[in-house]
Amino acid sequence: MSDISLVTKNTTAHAKILRIAILVSGSGSNLQVLIDAMQAGALPIEIVGVISNRDDAYAITRAKEVSIPVAVLSHVASGKRMGIKTFETHANTQLRAWQPDLIILAGFMRVLSTKFIDNAPAPMVNLHPALLPAYKGLNTHQRAIRAGERYHGCSIHVVTAELDAGAVLTQALLEVNQKDSADSLQKRVQKLEHQLLPWTVLLIAKGVLTLQTVNAGADNSTTYLPALPLRLWLNN
Ligand code: GRF
Repeated sequence: MSDISLVTKNTTAHAKILRIAILVSGSGSNLQVLIDAMQAGALPIEIVGVISNRDDAYAITRAKEVSIPVAVLSHVASGKRMGIKTFETHANTQLRAWQPDLIILAGFMRVLSTKFIDNAPAPMVNLHPALLPAYKGLNTHQRAIRAGERYHGCSIHVVTAELDAGAVLTQALLEVNQKDSADSLQKRVQKLEHQLLPWTVLLIAKGVLTLQTVNAGADNSTTYLPALPLRLWLNN
């Protein structure tokens, strides 16, 4: 049985280019931030491929514009929407072909099975629009406002079988304004996402944050460093 442990190191130089595959369902503004950073040489990454489960996702256009390989896994030959099992079979084959070091779910809106997650060819992280462990699932901004939260934000966490429940790596926070609606909060949080995602990728690429798959020892022990999550406080 394997588990994921998180290790921080004081590594400054890390020449390796991090190969990233990204799963999307929608606009792809977070994908765009990584494309821009890659093209500007601001991040030591190569986006090796994008998988979309929707054929109308604008993220597809963004990737194609810069010649990133795209796999659109939305429909089967009969024209019906692809079932999750079929999606996962194709996605796994495609990911293995691209050989990523890291898989990022950036606005990917399908729930993945335990089998897919366990057999993923690289560590997988998800960008979630709330300060986990609060507000797992959908409609996070609406729920945070209704609950009268003073703080809200976004998290990047390791993907595990339980939805939005894996170890939280990084978070970015903002203060909720009295005037905020779910819509305005969504826009403000998305601006945070656009800073949190490249920052987190940089930490992983530089080896500051390492996602290692380890075999749990006989005592089943796994060490989670207490310093996580790393938090980014942004004035927004
Ligand atoms: C993000 O706000 C993310 O938090 C949510 O879906 C949105 C995706 O945005 N899960 P985009 O497709 O990157 O523009």
